[in-house]
Amino acid sequence: MGWNSWNAVSCEVTEADIRAAADALVDTGLREAGYEYVVVDDCWMADELDSKGRLQPSTAFPDGMAALADYVHDRGLQFGLYSAAGSHTCQGYPATLGREQLHAEQFAAWGVDYLKYDNCGDHHGRDAIARYAAMGDALAGVDRDIIYSICEWGENRPWQWGRNVGGHCWRTTDDLVAKWRTDPDEFGLGIADVIDRMAAINAAASHGPGGWNDPDMLQIGNDHESGQSKHEPVTVHRPLTEAERRTHFAFWCLWAAPLMIGTDLTSLSTFDRELLANERLLAINQDRLGIQGTPDERNENSEVWSKRLADGGAAVAFHNRAGAKREITTHVVDTDIPEGADRYQVCDCWTGNEWTTNGSLAMTVRPRDTAIVRVTPQ
Ligand code: GAL
Repeated sequence: MGWNSWNAVSCEVTEADIRAAADALVDTGLREAGYEYVVVDDCWMADELDSKGRLQPSTAFPDGMAALADYVHDRGLQFGLYSAAGSHTCQGYPATLGREQLHAEQFAAWGVDYLKYDNCGDHHGRDAIARYAAMGDALAGVDRDIIYSICEWGENRPWQWGRNVGGHCWRTTDDLVAKWRTDPDEFGLGIADVIDRMAAINAAASHGPGGWNDPDMLQIGNDHESGQSKHEPVTVHRPLTEAERRTHFAFWCLWAAPLMIGTDLTSLSTFDRELLANERLLAINQDRLGIQGTPDERNENSEVWSKRLADGGAAVAFHNRAGAKREITTHVVDTDIPEGADRYQVCDCWTGNEWTTNGSLAMTVRPRDTAIVRVTPQ
């Protein structure tokens, strides 16, 4: 859980943005809710490596990365940086391929706790597994624990090898944009596109403590004015609706996905802050078993997904794909809830309302919205 600069400020990122984000995580209470990592994405580096081949910060980071890491650490947070397993980053800055050891040592010396490692630039004829393993080995060799976040966009099924190369999480899918769906000729995927894709790739078996499928960073709070929306070739017409934002957060929590906030925290709305800090949803996301929710039923009008939890219960999500409000039903036997109890306690994670059932579950859901309940055998 944390915050990353890309969706909010894209390639305009500055040291001041990172300090402001760290301060805002504290001031909004989101650090207390569990958001811990502050990650500087692409464009932090100068146009040239130094004479030894090391990365240097751009003039937008005048105090340097060690001082910025200290600032973040002083606020009880962890510090992350970005590079790529190619000659250049996606925005054309120098990257790490062939200099893994040197750069891993730099990151450790600066106090980096998290590395997002992208897939752009020239690959020098080496495949993804070889390139990502080289950095995994380099990180394992330095005297600092650094979370290794593989950003390979899901192209070579990284859920099958991400752990083996030392990865702690790996992107499953293309970049998420602040839209419900994208057109085929547009950049990236919308929320509903990622839900379809996560159902299709069926990667839940690879996911769990120490190695997580990553469907990309959160777009809650973003619109056409946000950094990524302005930077990438995608047309964002309006902010995500409240229903779309609830669905976005509900699925990322049900998937036990990394939760990297991607919006300007200095102007966060009350709705978005409360959504991101929802304790019932975060308990599902952070559940000790770390199971990724999977689909029980998907049809043209509705979807039901569920995820077993450590207390012997499960979370169940009811998503309305249709254009009108509808009741979506299921039964415990058709979900990941353990069977055989006489009664089940149900808690609506949005409202906190509680009731009991002998096994039938029915939720009324608005278009594009998602109801999510926690069900516990009694
Ligand atoms: C993309 C990556 C994004 C962002 C961007 C920066 O490849 O998927 O999350 O890091 O590069 O250029």
